[in-house]
Amino acid sequence: MESLASIVLAAGKGTRMKSGLIKVLHHVAGVPMIAWPVTAAREAGSDPIVLVIGHQANAVQGIFRGAGDIRCAMQEEQLGTGHAVACALDALSGFRGTVLILCGDTPLLRSETVKMMLAFHRDNQATITVLTALMDDPYGYGRVVRDASGHVTRIVEQKDADPEEQEIREINSGIYCMDSDFLFNNIRGIGNDNAQGEYYLTDLLAIAVRKGLTCLAMPTADADEIMGVNDRVQLAEAGRILRRRINRDHMLNGVTIIDPEATYIDQGVTIGPDTTIHPGCHIGEGTVIGSGCVIENGVSISACRIGDDCHIKAASVLEGSELGEDVAVGPMAHLRPGTVLGDKVKIGNFVETKKIVMGKGSKASHLTYLGDAEIGRDVNIGCGTITCNYDGVNKHRTIIGDEVFIGSDVQLVAPVTVGRNSLVAAGTTVTVDVPPDSLALSRVPQVNKEGWRLKKR
Ligand code: UD1
Ligand code: CA
Repeated sequence: MESLASIVLAAGKGTRMKSGLIKVLHHVAGVPMIAWPVTAAREAGSDPIVLVIGHQANAVQGIFRGAGDIRCAMQEEQLGTGHAVACALDALSGFRGTVLILCGDTPLLRSETVKMMLAFHRDNQATITVLTALMDDPYGYGRVVRDASGHVTRIVEQKDADPEEQEIREINSGIYCMDSDFLFNNIRGIGNDNAQGEYYLTDLLAIAVRKGLTCLAMPTADADEIMGVNDRVQLAEAGRILRRRINRDHMLNGVTIIDPEATYIDQGVTIGPDTTIHPGCHIGEGTVIGSGCVIENGVSISACRIGDDCHIKAASVLEGSELGEDVAVGPMAHLRPGTVLGDKVKIGNFVETKKIVMGKGSKASHLTYLGDAEIGRDVNIGCGTITCNYDGVNKHRTIIGDEVFIGSDVQLVAPVTVGRNSLVAAGTTVTVDVPPDSLALSRVPQVNKEGWRLKKR
């Protein structure tokens, strides 16, 4: 196969976002916008991929740290798309083949479309192929000008278009395939004599046509794909379209999504078949959910591994946690990072956990805080139990053996160990280790003063 390199333009600030963050760093469906076109380029077989960066360059670079196919080129001053591509060419010196040029702000472009465009470009031995779309409202985009026989002659920007050209509905997506030799030899031939005083990449088409080279426009079937995100309205719209695609893939893989329009699953989530997801859930990148699970309304899950047949009840929040099989959580439980729950564990309402390991079949059914603890199997944690893990300076661990029964309203003042098969009586404050098979009890003896209320009247 012929070699393919890509240039992704991402040096601009994105003024219309009205944000302290540059446009391509805003998240769409859980990942930074720039990651979408980079993935499309990669999936189409591109190596290397050159990112043209300028504003907040370090942050953009940070996203791709460790990716061997990514190179970065600085564009210190944003003098136009033609100038941006010129800045990328040093990073491609010695490369020969097809150069794919993408914009960092078109997250909806699919790799399938890029592949089709590449095939079209190569089959026709074109010098430049531009991806276009027919728009009902083409305002703002560059228009594709064709001659009487339908051949592309040039692209004219909105601000430079005469009234007749403004009527053209075929628009430039800003996505191109170009022959590398042509690109290297002609990029410096672009001028900036136009309404915006910018170096327009689009001028390369007129240059190619003038030289008698083949310049083609490939209209895409789905105009959504080339939508550029310029403001937060379009950001939301792009997110909606991406989530719809993601949800569709999960549904076709056997996941029931009760209301796909109200289910927010990020890119990079794996879900097993026969799992049901109720409305209002958010499932974040890196999460793996097994099969046969039920995820109830309003659950938020990020970076978790959840086994088969788990039941996550309404309004629970799960972060960085690992669940075995047949685990029940919630409603309204909060699993914080480092929570590891064995098979058949039950975590009930208003329970918060952090950095704990809980063995098979153990339960904490109500109103409890468990932090920095190692809990064995078949342990019962009574309502209102608290691990007092923090002394104001350091965190300490609580260890609870297998088959321990902790009564309601118990405080475990860490570091402390409760030996296996012991019972801690309700209302006990445990400050010293409890040996195995024992009863721990620390209550102030109760006093009843009979008739006390009557005397007070
Ligand atoms: C560009 C095209 C227009 C097309 C539209 C599609 C030109 C001259 N115009 O216009 O025909 O219809 O895209 O969305 O190419 N960028 C840089 N450095 C620069 C300038 C831009 O990196 O100096 C980056 C931006 O960050 C952005 C992309 O290039 O990711 C497109 O730039 P933008 O200014 O949005 O171009 P448009 O005016 O939308
Ligand atoms: Ca744009």
